[in-house]
Amino acid sequence: MFSQKSFMIRSFSFLLLLLLLMILLRKSVAVGDDRQKNFYIVFLRADHADDDISPENSLQIESTHLNLLSSVKGSHHEARESMVYSYSKSFNAFAAKLSDNEARKLSDMDEVVSVIPNGYCKLHTTRSWDFIGLPVTAKRRLKLESDIIVGLLDTGTTPESDSFKDDGLGPTPAKWKGSCGHFANFSGCNNKLIGAKYFKLDGNPDSDDILSPIDMDGHGTHTSSTAAGNLVPNASLFGLAQGTARGAVPSARVAVYKVCWESNGCADMDILAGFEAAIHDGVDVISISIGGGNPSYYEDSIAIGSFHAMKKGIITVASAGNDGPSLNTVVNTAPWIVTVGASGIDRQFISTVQLGNGQNVSGRGVNTFNPKQKQYPLINGADAASSSASKEEARSCYPTSLDPKKVKGRLVYCIPDSSGSDSVVKALGGIGAIMENEQYLDLAQIFMAPATAVNTSVGESITSYIKSTRSPSAVIYKTHEMKKPAPFVASFSSRGPNSGSIHVLKPDIAAPGINILASFTLRRSLTGQEGDTQFSKFTLMSGTSMACPHVAGVAAYVKSFHPNWSPAAIRSAIITTAKPMSKRVNVEAEFGYGGGQVNPMRAKNPGLVYDMDAFSYLQFLCHEGYNGSDLTVFTGSRVNCSSILPGLGHDAINYPTFQLALRAKKPSTLAVFRRTVTNVGPDGPTMFNATVNAPPGVQVTVSPNSLSFSKALQKRSFKVVVKAKSMASMKIVSGSLVWRSSRYNVRSPIVVYSP
Ligand SMILES: *[C@@H]1O[C@H](CO)[C@@H](O)[C@H](O)[C@H]1NC(C)=O
Ligand SMILES: *[C@@H]1O[C@H](CO)[C@@H](O)[C@H](O)[C@H]1NC(C)=O
Ligand SMILES: *[C@@H]1O[C@H](CO)[C@@H](O)[C@H](O)[C@H]1NC(C)=O
Ligand SMILES: *[C@@H]1O[C@H](CO)[C@@H](O)[C@H](O)[C@H]1NC(C)=O
Ligand SMILES: *[C@@H]1O[C@H](CO)[C@@H](O)[C@H](O)[C@H]1NC(C)=O
Ligand SMILES: *[C@@H]1O[C@H](CO)[C@@H](O)[C@H](O)[C@H]1NC(C)=O
Ligand SMILES: *[C@@H]1O[C@H](CO)[C@@H](O)[C@H](O)[C@H]1NC(C)=O
Repeated sequence: MFSQKSFMIRSFSFLLLLLLLMILLRKSVAVGDDRQKNFYIVFLRADHADDDISPENSLQIESTHLNLLSSVKGSHHEARESMVYSYSKSFNAFAAKLSDNEARKLSDMDEVVSVIPNGYCKLHTTRSWDFIGLPVTAKRRLKLESDIIVGLLDTGTTPESDSFKDDGLGPTPAKWKGSCGHFANFSGCNNKLIGAKYFKLDGNPDSDDILSPIDMDGHGTHTSSTAAGNLVPNASLFGLAQGTARGAVPSARVAVYKVCWESNGCADMDILAGFEAAIHDGVDVISISIGGGNPSYYEDSIAIGSFHAMKKGIITVASAGNDGPSLNTVVNTAPWIVTVGASGIDRQFISTVQLGNGQNVSGRGVNTFNPKQKQYPLINGADAASSSASKEEARSCYPTSLDPKKVKGRLVYCIPDSSGSDSVVKALGGIGAIMENEQYLDLAQIFMAPATAVNTSVGESITSYIKSTRSPSAVIYKTHEMKKPAPFVASFSSRGPNSGSIHVLKPDIAAPGINILASFTLRRSLTGQEGDTQFSKFTLMSGTSMACPHVAGVAAYVKSFHPNWSPAAIRSAIITTAKPMSKRVNVEAEFGYGGGQVNPMRAKNPGLVYDMDAFSYLQFLCHEGYNGSDLTVFTGSRVNCSSILPGLGHDAINYPTFQLALRAKKPSTLAVFRRTVTNVGPDGPTMFNATVNAPPGVQVTVSPNSLSFSKALQKRSFKVVVKAKSMASMKIVSGSLVWRSSRYNVRSPIVVYSP
């Protein structure tokens, strides 16, 4: 008895000790758990029609989520601890921290349709509007435009920016259900910036960011002001790119959903929460300059979120990615998304470098520094190696490879593997850097010290000059602007073909994405590099990230004329009115620019549209081979593909472009495409005739080859038969089908390629 009791007492005090230890070690215990448990998003069947979930249902759904989670966690308490978010407004899902085993158990449950591990996506980092033809004086429907709300999923925004002043704007549109609370370092919303929320469900601390919709990066400020910022006269980056900065729809409202964070990027569960909030709040257009998710549509947070948006009539515009010019790199390829590639405008930023012998060479990039001396001593990085580094390493100007004594007071010539030599040289007491860099010759990098980027042939003349004299010197002048032929597809812009579906051409469209001037934050230096003391309310940025909000803005502009158009109709209008781009200049042709350069003024009046509804996308997905349970993340209920009406023709989609992937080893491939167009021109009889420009070596016939309409909103169907001989692998040929009437040209590219 005694011994038994003492054991009990001992074990009791042992328990106390353990408890104490656990409290003390709570932090490290939690970290230990983190290693084994990851975030997952668990999608459930929506028993309620998921189209309209009421607040009462919302609560009920949340408690269903907890019950379900408890059944694998063992207790309600544990379920509560591990659940991070319950999505119940637009779709039925929850995000939780789970072990692999728990995730497996959940995915075996009847009511669970899909369990997706949470991944992290990345950001796709004034003149531009005039260049594509949307002048300040463009015809606008201001009343309707001011009812349009553009939602951006990004890094937040800068409320004090001039781009978001609300002078002259009336109260928020009646349909707006969103909110904007008080947040850290966030001065609040007004009648221009009407909504601001943030989502950071992983709870991991981020010392470079603030739990607030405030933008600590500059990316979200830039994209949101590009889509719908006010007119801000005399904007520039230290006098460069001077002009009026403005969004496509200066009277439209902006709502921001911060889902991307400085340290971790953009989590799938935050992206989904952002979509859900934007849909619920009542935005008209979603702009998302983020990518890198899963190529399967049913496992990609952006594809899933945008499908639910589409069901509510909200169009999603997304960036194509910055992994070009390699083929097969385009992302955000779901057909219900408008996928945007980046093109260059007619402006480049050049710095003259004068060498000690009087020779002038030119480099690229934004150097805002006026020289203080006529010449500075110049040294080749390879000749400035520190005692521990090789000449090779020093040539690249790594921070530890250079000897500060040799760099001090000098310009240094570097062949770096990545950007940032200006910062390295400056930190070591040098003046600045001339960098040889053949990558991305088309975009202007911003420097934090006197610097410029030169190509290999200019680089060779600089190195031979350095060798030719005992005291080489040079000076880099402040950057000036020069005209350049345009448009062209940016080297970095991701290219097709579409790895998500061989049947759909992606990207859809190109828009300016090189050296775009838009609002920035004063919370971060221009380059973000250590030691940079340059701050500006406006800056230049490049990327498909910058192209995307241009098209989101155009979608909003089109919607202000046609408030009832479906997302597919708006997309069709944007694609079929695009300005064709040159196949000679852009060798990847449509894989780089889709329909061509976006053309806002024509997009509002396309003549015909290729329309689609949510059901027709399901027909397409079934035709693509997705089966019942995969589709549940989109529909909320099981789809039996064998029991729904099959989609028509080769691709089973009423898309405004035509793409044929040739079959391997077949001497020729024949495909029949079926399409239906809706007359969105004025009432009264109109006739459209087909003009086919067949790709070389390809036969294209259209029947009927003329379509006659007697009134507005009539639909007409036609088929396009494409017959192509086999081609070398990865070759692309293209042509077009244009429906012409006396007033309209409705142009669709026809692309044939060999995978
Ligand atoms: C955020 O606000 C705090 C308190 O007002 C201030 O100390 C801090 O500097 C602010 N941070 C930024 C980045 O504005
Ligand atoms: C425009 O900005 C430049 C440089 O920022 C300044 O020198 C000039 O006075 C401004 N002009 C007007 C009309 O505000
Ligand atoms: C080199 O450029 C500078 C600055 O633009 C200019 O003053 C000089 O005349 C140029 N020299 C030659 C030889 O073109
Ligand atoms: C290198 O840059 C110089 C100056 O911009 C230009 O004249 C030259 O054509 C370029 N060379 C190549 C091979 O691109
Ligand atoms: C659907 O396809 C997946 C693989 O893509 C497969 O695991 C699953 O069993 C299929 N379900 C049905 C009902 O065919
Ligand atoms: C799907 O529909 C077909 C045809 O209506 C039917 O034969 C089949 O049993 C259904 N499959 C499922 C899993 O319900
Ligand atoms: C279309 O073709 C018909 C018959 O060939 C012709 O009468 C008509 O003028 C054409 N319309 C246009 C706009 O080219």
